[in-house]
Amino acid sequence: MSLLIINIKELIQVRKTNVTIVTGEDMKVLPILKNAYLLIEHDTIVEYGPMEDCDDIEAEEVIDASGKIVLPTWCDSHTHLVYAGDRVQEFVDRIDGLSYEEIAKHGGGILNSAEKLQNTSEDELYNQAAKRLTEVIKMGTGAIEIKSGYGLTVEAELKMLRVIKRLKKDFPVKVKPTLLAAHALPKTFQKNKKSFIDLVVNTMIPAVAAEHLAEYIDVFCEKGYFDLKDTEQVLEAAKAHRLIPKIHVNQFNAFGGVALGVKYNALSVDHLEELAPEDIPALQNSNTMPVALPLCSFFLGIPYTPARSLIDAGLPLAIASDYNPGSTPSGNMNFVVASACIKMKLTPEEAINAATINGAYAMGISNQYGSICRGKKANVIITKEIPNYQFLPYAFGDNHIDTVIINGQVYN
Ligand code: NIG
Ligand code: FE
Repeated sequence: MSLLIINIKELIQVRKTNVTIVTGEDMKVLPILKNAYLLIEHDTIVEYGPMEDCDDIEAEEVIDASGKIVLPTWCDSHTHLVYAGDRVQEFVDRIDGLSYEEIAKHGGGILNSAEKLQNTSEDELYNQAAKRLTEVIKMGTGAIEIKSGYGLTVEAELKMLRVIKRLKKDFPVKVKPTLLAAHALPKTFQKNKKSFIDLVVNTMIPAVAAEHLAEYIDVFCEKGYFDLKDTEQVLEAAKAHRLIPKIHVNQFNAFGGVALGVKYNALSVDHLEELAPEDIPALQNSNTMPVALPLCSFFLGIPYTPARSLIDAGLPLAIASDYNPGSTPSGNMNFVVASACIKMKLTPEEAINAATINGAYAMGISNQYGSICRGKKANVIITKEIPNYQFLPYAFGDNHIDTVIINGQVYN
């Protein structure tokens, strides 16, 4: 099967060599080819170039992309897309004046989602999640990380991760599973955090590892949730099972989570709405990707990650949706890119790099995803007719997508 896309107005994020991360100043550079073609064979990008070199190329299927932009699909490296029901009531309560923390203290928040999830069958959970995954693929996501963390019991965490495994099998996009073992302290452990950490360390992590249900380990390292010592214990236990850390840090408070993540060679440290001066040097000379989640800031009305400070210090940055029922009920990556530009002052070039190649890095797949490069997976977005790529974040409320191609096939 071969597919040729011709007359592409702008082919975005074209990389001759297979770069796997872009950092600092280089994030401002988004390589583009105007009036281009792209040739796909089976699930792989095999060639691209200017239209004048396209004459002799034949393919079984041809798509004319006149007036349209082609770019790699979004790489959404942080989601909690498997969850039961919704938390609309808490949304209304927050408008009425309660804070996210207050709602959580009164049994809402993560515990609310956990109760819903525990009472939902695996099939029903799968159906709800599959619907969300279908929607985000239509919005251009071609690779996605999905966390557990709304189970809070061994059995319910396994249920969530089995659902993620089914999604991985049934959908053509790349799915990367994460065990978010310590997300909140379950009701039954309220006065006994130590026993819950013991459960995570001695039972949950080994059970998940035995079924190969996760590649990454996550902890909500935050005041009122899990402190540095708890986090370290979980990361230490996970290390023995070769689960790589991708952790929630600095959402409301900065108290050393970034340095801890770096110490454990975390693939990413995510949120970072609060940044302490020592967090930047901790990230420099590390392999850890800082990840900002601007829609969480938008929805909760909390500060945006000081992305400029990170990039201007020479660091890389990825942006992701954080799709979840409590703090970000949306997996719209175009809106993530727009928010990064509008609220975090990223240039469109930086934001697109952050949502493609660096997002792929934060899932350990940037050798295969996140740019238009010969030999890489043929996951691309063809936009509607738009003036240029800067129009994607500019007209933030529009759906710019005409066609999504996953593994070389049009996704319907
Ligand atoms: O990334 N902060 C921790 N976890 C999620 C939200 C959890 C929830 O409210 O359900 C987040 O924002
Ligand atoms: Fe999250």
